[in-house]
Amino acid sequence: MALRNIVTKEQDVLYKKCRTVEKFDERLWTLLDDMKETLYKAQGYGLAAPQVGILKRVAVIDVGEGYIELINPEILDPEGEQRDIEGCLSCPDVWGYVKRPYSCTLRAQDRNGEYYEKKLEGLFCRCACHETDHLDGKLFVDLVDEFVKPEE
Ligand code: NI
Repeated sequence: MALRNIVTKEQDVLYKKCRTVEKFDERLWTLLDDMKETLYKAQGYGLAAPQVGILKRVAVIDVGEGYIELINPEILDPEGEQRDIEGCLSCPDVWGYVKRPYSCTLRAQDRNGEYYEKKLEGLFCRCACHETDHLDGKLFVDLVDEFVKPEE
């Protein structure tokens, strides 16, 4: 495993649509392992492949409810609403309130290509929406309705 550099919001790679993953091979597993290590090192909740410069539909999440890998994720059945402060490892020192669905069903593939579905609520749902947006070249800053200072 190896740490990867996290790109910041000035870089074009964050604004592109990522490609669907079709090969569930050693190369993908290395990317996932590296992203996991990079996520924990950075102490984030989630990390998407474009944040390490790779335009593939891959993300990893750990909000304290278990580590998951998301390949070709889809957010289904969004329900309710939550408004809370969000940040991003690619936007250091930028924080703001974002509205997200309160719950959703995540449908994705695991590292072997097997489909799974997981019902998510609260922060877990927020994070899955945030990471899935990254795969479509969207950053949370465009959804912020009120920016806040980091210490607030
Ligand atoms: Ni992010």
